[in-house]
Amino acid sequence: MQKKELPIGVYDSGAGGISVLAQARICLPHENFIYYGDSANAPYGTKSEEEIRDLSLACGDFLCRQGVKMIIIACNTATSITVQAMREKYNIPIISIEPAVKPAVEKYPEGKIAVLATPATLHQKRYLHLLDKLGAMDQAVNISCDGLAEIVERGNLSDPHIKAYLCEKFLPYRRCDFNGIVVGCTHYSFISDQIRDVARKICGGPCEIFDGMYGTARHVADVLALEGLLNDSFSEGRIKFFSSGEAHHIDVFERFLKIFKK
Ligand code: SIN
Repeated sequence: MQKKELPIGVYDSGAGGISVLAQARICLPHENFIYYGDSANAPYGTKSEEEIRDLSLACGDFLCRQGVKMIIIACNTATSITVQAMREKYNIPIISIEPAVKPAVEKYPEGKIAVLATPATLHQKRYLHLLDKLGAMDQAVNISCDGLAEIVERGNLSDPHIKAYLCEKFLPYRRCDFNGIVVGCTHYSFISDQIRDVARKICGGPCEIFDGMYGTARHVADVLALEGLLNDSFSEGRIKFFSSGEAHHIDVFERFLKIFKK
């Protein structure tokens, strides 16, 4: 088999990375994908740096054993801590995701931007460096959402706890008028409509959603083209799902993928 025919590996702490997989698949319908959700160890966002690094490298090892031509780290928390170690360990392109602060501040250079992410992502030097580089330190309002990925991970997107959780998080920012909301965790992509609606009601402003999954998917396509790794097959690509957890996690992955097929 030629290298370009190999699948693309995608991993996350659980189901969140399905959002990135869905966008990558829309950009690259002829590629094969292997999705690995580390559901037995989710969530990553409240774990130590060392634990997150070890878990991520175990995900990378799993994907490499499957023979992937590229790895997408579809988890903001894992990216902020592990991307360097993965690039040093694996001899294939490693694509990462970061909170979409850049498009948000480009669209609203004078505006107020709320960034929702896990505590681990928001405390990482990588994120602070991103804000600094964009001159967005004063513009960005960081809202640490420990526990939100876990609620999404359970798979019930109409769970009333989601709205209750969001109300509690946005209440301290009543009438803050947010121009943009950055969903800085791939799990939140599945509830971005709810995030926008609650934020608009409580805080006001357009609360336009900015999501890193789109830029990441485009970047995957660019890197494959640049490296001569695009699969030139004409048939529709396949997706194989794996989870370190239980069989019902795979059901959630499949159900979540359909959300973005609409
Ligand atoms: C988590 O596992 O806590 C969320 C992962 C992410 O940041 O995307």
